[in-house]
Amino acid sequence: SMPDEVPLDEQCERLPYDASKWEFARERLKLGKSLGRGAFGKVVQASAFGIKKSPTCRTVAVKMLKEGATASEYKALMTELKILTHIGHHLNVVNLLGACTKQGGPLMVIVEYCKYGNLSNYLKSKRDLFFLNKDAALHMEPKKEKMEPGLEQGKKPRLDSVTSSESFASSGFQEDKSLSDVEEEEDSDGFYKEPITMEDLISYSFQVARGMEFLSSRKCIHRDLAARNILLSENNVVKICDFGLARDIYKNPDYVRKGDTRLPLKWMAPESIFDKIYSTKSDVWSYGVLLWEIFSLGGSPYPGVQMDEDFCSRLREGMRMRAPEYSTPEIYQIMLDCWHRDPKERPRFAELVEKLGDLL
Ligand code: ADE
Repeated sequence: SMPDEVPLDEQCERLPYDASKWEFARERLKLGKSLGRGAFGKVVQASAFGIKKSPTCRTVAVKMLKEGATASEYKALMTELKILTHIGHHLNVVNLLGACTKQGGPLMVIVEYCKYGNLSNYLKSKRDLFFLNKDAALHMEPKKEKMEPGLEQGKKPRLDSVTSSESFASSGFQEDKSLSDVEEEEDSDGFYKEPITMEDLISYSFQVARGMEFLSSRKCIHRDLAARNILLSENNVVKICDFGLARDIYKNPDYVRKGDTRLPLKWMAPESIFDKIYSTKSDVWSYGVLLWEIFSLGGSPYPGVQMDEDFCSRLREGMRMRAPEYSTPEIYQIMLDCWHRDPKERPRFAELVEKLGDLL
């Protein structure tokens, strides 16, 4: 391949890790609840005391291996750490904060915590709360009725909050900790009741394009760009991440068995499916599918289509998805541009940033 197309992970394996810049003492990390787990790795929430010169505690996400992980999985996580140190900081990527690599404990990669979870689930939760603009939203403000906490309009009923309010009634304590935690963590700012608008959808699309423009400028090929790999943080900021080892590709139906691996077929460019060719241009194809996910409010691409050989050949022959429910003609045209049969004809991320910036 071209000199500048050598995959970053292959270059990074050989790079050093600068402990003086990134090493964080394990004792300063207090591990919390699980945020995700896969066959080999997991991500947990944690409190980090004094990370990045902060005088206080900061909520972070910690990526680590599960028991029984092998040397090759250790190497993969170490390579990921080196990639993150090499890439550098950008608002629209989940940034590295530190790492625990010293002998005598597990390898831990510490990254920014994104409060609102992945974009796919978030958009699904907003299906009853989508408006074209804020004015339309104002006239349709959900009625302010006093309801059970965790069961307000536009909020998914949560089994654990129902259970904890029951135990609250029977325990007789003034304050139930798990219930107040739910409020504190999930809705102290009313974010879950807020409607979303067309502007938000275009803004998420624009931000992901910005993040990808940055990653591609750092010669980083993502290979699994999808709404499940985009996290939502405070102030409507979205960040690109890659769960890699911490995603259970054996249980998640987005990863389809093909030969001896599991692949995110619905997000893959034809040249990746047929010739295992990955490039920034195949990331642009996946970005088009991600746009479809955004403008269908977290829909599953190619609805009703069986993922088999026939799907793959029809894709090669030019089959494409129809416009999703909430897209405009301009947005749908961008998707079609991203799905150009010829990789060279697909837009560059810099062009996508410009187009979406104009729409925004
Ligand atoms: N799940 C996995 N990684 C996460 C992160 N960085 N923030 C929030 N949830 C996550």
